[in-house]
This record gives sequence, C-alpha cells and structure tokens, in this order.
Amino acid sequence: MEMMKVDTKTHDEKRQGESYAGFANDPNVYRKLFYIESYGCAMNFSDSEIVASILNEEGFGATRDYEQADLVLINTCSIREKAEQTVRKRLTEFKKMKQAKPGMLVGVLGCMAERLKAKLLEEEKLVDLVVGPDAYRSLPALIEEAETGQKAVNVLLSRDETYADISPVRLDSNGVTAFISIMRGCNNMCSFCVVPFTRGRERSRDAFSIVQEAQNLFERGFRDVTLLGQNVDSYYWVDDARNETVTFARLLEKVAAVNPLLRVRFSTSHPKDITEEVLHTIAAHDNICNYIHLPVQSGSTRILQLMNRTYTREWYMSKVKQIREIIPDCGISADIIAGFCTETEEDHNDTLSIMEFSRYDMSYMFFYSERPGTLAAKRYEDDVPEPIKKRRLQEIVDLQGRLAFESNKADIGKTFRVLIEGNSKRSDSDWMGRSSQNKVIVFPKNNRPLKSGDYVMVKVTDCTPATLLGKIMED
Ligand code: 5AD
Ligand code: SF4
Repeated sequence: MEMMKVDTKTHDEKRQGESYAGFANDPNVYRKLFYIESYGCAMNFSDSEIVASILNEEGFGATRDYEQADLVLINTCSIREKAEQTVRKRLTEFKKMKQAKPGMLVGVLGCMAERLKAKLLEEEKLVDLVVGPDAYRSLPALIEEAETGQKAVNVLLSRDETYADISPVRLDSNGVTAFISIMRGCNNMCSFCVVPFTRGRERSRDAFSIVQEAQNLFERGFRDVTLLGQNVDSYYWVDDARNETVTFARLLEKVAAVNPLLRVRFSTSHPKDITEEVLHTIAAHDNICNYIHLPVQSGSTRILQLMNRTYTREWYMSKVKQIREIIPDCGISADIIAGFCTETEEDHNDTLSIMEFSRYDMSYMFFYSERPGTLAAKRYEDDVPEPIKKRRLQEIVDLQGRLAFESNKADIGKTFRVLIEGNSKRSDSDWMGRSSQNKVIVFPKNNRPLKSGDYVMVKVTDCTPATLLGKIMED
C-alpha cells in the first residue's frame, strides 16, 4: 500500500481558517473538540475520516489546533520501525500539552495500537485510549470510559467490519480527490510485513455502498476517487438480493458508470492477483485511469521467494509486458525494499535491472526494517549491515530519479487531459492537476475561467524530474 508523505495536521496554508465539513467550532453543534493526526498509508487517512464521522455523531467537532482539543487522537503506522519512532516522538510533545491541560484525553489508533495493545499504556503513561483499526465503532463508549479516569482499550480484530454504512467526513480535502475504502485486511503473508497482524483478515465492503459513496462524492463536486484496499484485486462481493457476484473488475465498471466525468483510480494491487480482465476493463473505460501501482519489492527471484511474494522475476516482467500491451500509455509505479535478509550485490543488481525493464514513473523506496512477529523476523536473520542497506537504497533512489526524469522528458510535446486539483504550490497564477497516468502537471492559468475540478487539455512544454510543465491548448 502506498505511503503518504503528509499527515492531516499539515494543511495547505490557503485553507487555514476556511470552514468546511468536519471543521466546525460552533458550540451549538459540537459539545467538544477533537484533533486527529494520521501517519502511514492512505488506508489510515481514510480510516481517520471514518473516525471523524463517528465522533461528529457523538457531538465532537474537529479542530486543527490540538491545543484547543478535548480529545487528541493519533492514527499510527507500524510498517517500519521509523514510523513507530515518529509517533513516539509526537506523543512526547503531547505529554507536555497534557501537563498543562490535565482533562485532555489522548488516544492511539491504528496499527501501532493493534500491534502493541495494552503494552502501549504501560510504555506511554499519557495515553488514555488504545483502539485498533476494526474497533472504531466502540470509540464513543471508550471515550466515556476514559472520561471517568480509566484506561480504555479495544483491539479486537473483526472478520466482517468494513464500516460500509459510515459516511466519512472529508478531512483536509481539496474538494476534488477522495479515497473510498473498498476492502480491509490482507490474507497475503509477505514475510516482511506486519499488516496481516495489525489489520486482520481480508474482507470486502458491500458494492452497493461503495457506488453510493462515489455517487455522493460526485454530486458534491469530487472528480477523482481512489478505491483503496491492501489488496484490491481480491475484492469479492456476492450480492444476494440482486443475485450478482462483483469482482474487482466489475466494481471498477460500476464506479466508472457513476459519471464519465468521475475519474477512478485504485491502490494497491498485488502482481499475482491483478487479472487480465482488470487490465481490459481499464483499457475499455476512459475514466478508469491508466495508472497501476504494482509493488515489485525485489527483482531477485531468490529474494522474492524468501519474501513469500509467490512470483518470480520473469513472472513480474511478463505482467509489466502485458500491461504495456493492453494499456500502451499506462503509468506504472512500485514499492521497493533494499537490503532484505541475505540480499547479495547480485540480488540488488537484479532489483536495479528490473526497475530499468519496468521503467517506473515513480517508486516508494525503503530499506528493510525487521518487524517483530513477522515470518521474516522468525525465520531469517536481518544480516545486511545498515550502511550497505542505505547505499543500496541510495542507488535505487538515484536510478528511480533518472527513470522518472526520462519518463517526463518523453512526455514533452504530448497533450494530456488534466483534472485541475488547485493552485500550484509555488504560484497562485498557475494550476496544478494530474494526468490519467497520475503525473503532476503545472501550467499557467492565463486568465481562463477555469476552477478546481475542471478538465482541461494541456500540452507539455518542459519538465523537471518530478513535474511536468505545460500550457493550456487553445480550443
Ligand atoms: N521494511 C521495509 N519496508 C516495508 N514495507 C512493508 N514492510 C516493510 C518492512 N518491514 C514496504 C513494502 C510495502 C510498503 C507499503 O512498505 O514495500 O509495499
Ligand atoms: Fe497502513 Fe498499517 Fe500498513 Fe502502516 S502498517 S502502511 S498504517 S496498514
């Protein structure tokens, strides 16, 4: 699952003070205020929007200023040790705040809550609530318990919780792009990964409620939805009432049918599960984006086997080839891990060469971080020294930089249909939008009567390694 670099506490400066769904300080509407900060993957950010909805119902309004909050929540990630360290540091800052404001409650949500359970309460004395990813419905009861001075914990994992009926409150939204959670949990047992332990078994959400959420977003002006799951290709829903079986390909079609002006994306696919049918469905619909996030993790068959990825180097390469045949202009990105247990220079070179072969437009790159309880931690020694891991990671990052720049340069002269997401970060006289392939394009507004959520044809005139630069095509 792709990682987010931002957290919900960092807001676009221009949106500060703006009032929109979820952020209201009106004491007539909300009796108390909560503050939530999210780390990790898109699923976590999406979960925070479910939490916000549950809390709104209970009379809690969201605030962006944690000093004002009666309840401070931190939605955590366990994927790498560093993610957990970041949260620990943040808790230390909240500790100071709590000393000044003893009535304030502090809750830890998400994967770290699930992994460490009540141990977290012993280790972090300021924490009042520990709530796992499947237990957010119990938040109101847990808050009540914590308000009486007791510590409150719920880390039960569920086989059927999908929060299907909860309409998420969009936090820090640009009003154009949104996530829709379609499934939870993961049944793959990648040996490096803690997610099957923190997020439990795979389960799919009611297809009807997904389409309804997409419809509702569209009516509110949203134009780009990303269907989220740890492993979207194993989405599977049997609708007894309509006697219909919904696979992931069918779900894509249903969401695309909401409106031709609604773009549909998805994340994340496991290379072993993405079907030819899904690829043909993408190719057949203009509004299903030509972009696939296809984590490779390693280019060495031997390492892939130790990782329990269940595919070989050659198999992955044939999948990339098939994508390029069926969807010729498809953007492809990856997740890559450097320095997994027993990785040699030769294995590492296999990773570099599979990157060259796949010509990724973008990658999320990490060095291996052993996670307690995983298969790899039990079976293999974390034996690649840290300086070597870091050097290999740097080589991967450098190569990815070159591949992205080459991919961008190859777009110069081409014209793309761009969905405008807002002002460019650098200048209010430029728009920022994305192409179907998920590339960011910046271009001058040129006094045209356009707005966020509009589509416009943009010709690429130049690029940086990370961004395409263009100009609006005259009609
Ligand atoms: N160490 C380093 N990277 C990891 N990832 C998952 N677990 C680990 C780990 N233990 C990476 C994988 C995954 C992404 C979300 O995070 O590349 O696809
Ligand atoms: Fe998301 Fe949890 Fe995995 Fe982090 S550990 S990436 S929060 S599922």
